[in-house]
Amino acid sequence: MPTFAVTTRLPRPALDLLAAAGELRETEAGKLEREQLLAHVAGADAVLTQLGDRVDGELLDAAGPQLRCVCNVAVGVDNIDLEAAAARGVAVAHTPGVLDDATADLALGLILAATRRLGEGERLIRSGQPWAWGMDFMLGRGLRGKRLGVVGLGAIGSRVAERARALGMTIAYTNRNEAPAAVTAPLQARRLGLGELLASADVITLHCPLSAETRHLIGAAELAAMKPTATLVNTARGPVVDEAALVVALREGEIASAGLDVFEHEPEVHPGLLELENVVLVPHLGSATVETRMAMAELAARNALAAVAGEPLPTPVVG
Ligand code: GLV
Repeated sequence: MPTFAVTTRLPRPALDLLAAAGELRETEAGKLEREQLLAHVAGADAVLTQLGDRVDGELLDAAGPQLRCVCNVAVGVDNIDLEAAAARGVAVAHTPGVLDDATADLALGLILAATRRLGEGERLIRSGQPWAWGMDFMLGRGLRGKRLGVVGLGAIGSRVAERARALGMTIAYTNRNEAPAAVTAPLQARRLGLGELLASADVITLHCPLSAETRHLIGAAELAAMKPTATLVNTARGPVVDEAALVVALREGEIASAGLDVFEHEPEVHPGLLELENVVLVPHLGSATVETRMAMAELAARNALAAVAGEPLPTPVVG
């Protein structure tokens, strides 16, 4: 009977699927400490991990040679050493597709919150300070006719673009490769180099995976290249942005505002960001809807079941 080790609390339907097919090793912890994690996965045939679990050679060896699959309950797999897994013949699966709308909704929420100063307004009211409607009181910037610059026009980026079109924005993007016409045509999206995108967009939204190439993709020079009226939104991975450089850019008015769902040293947040009014900060909520988390957990469980049955994985990590 296969053993499934689940490293974080998951919705019951996914756990029931696993329990019906083998021995289920659950945890009540939100996140296991390293030593607990290593002990928890020992002897498992499949492990269901979350994005805060570092899956490296040490963890794979702690699990043991029977391990068939690491099923990340996330679409991003930057927490997993893919080479170490491949070297041990361990498959890796993730949860693409099921979280695209939830994450795109959150990105749109951050775009609106940052451009219309919602966080700042909320803080003002809660502070109890007097305020009154005024012609020039707490003005933001409108979105109609403005350009959205999408860094990574994939499944999530294209959904953010769809939403932005509904607000009257135009779309430009940067990608390693040209996105398919079926995606770009309805969006009337133009492909630009990163430099041109940064210089011309009113809102930049990040949707690339974290890799050696994209770490600090947005640093001091890139922020300086953006319009002083521009907004930067990151719902991808924190280290794609040099957070210290972002603090300076926001403080010095090199860009107007930012909305962040992810942080360079998550869950820590750069103290400089906490002092700024022109940044909206939310705690990695991109996929945090009841429906999406159910779907992610179920997809991860289905990958684990397929792996132990020797069947093709529904959503393997390719590449
Ligand atoms: C969330 O950040 C994910 O990668 O699923």
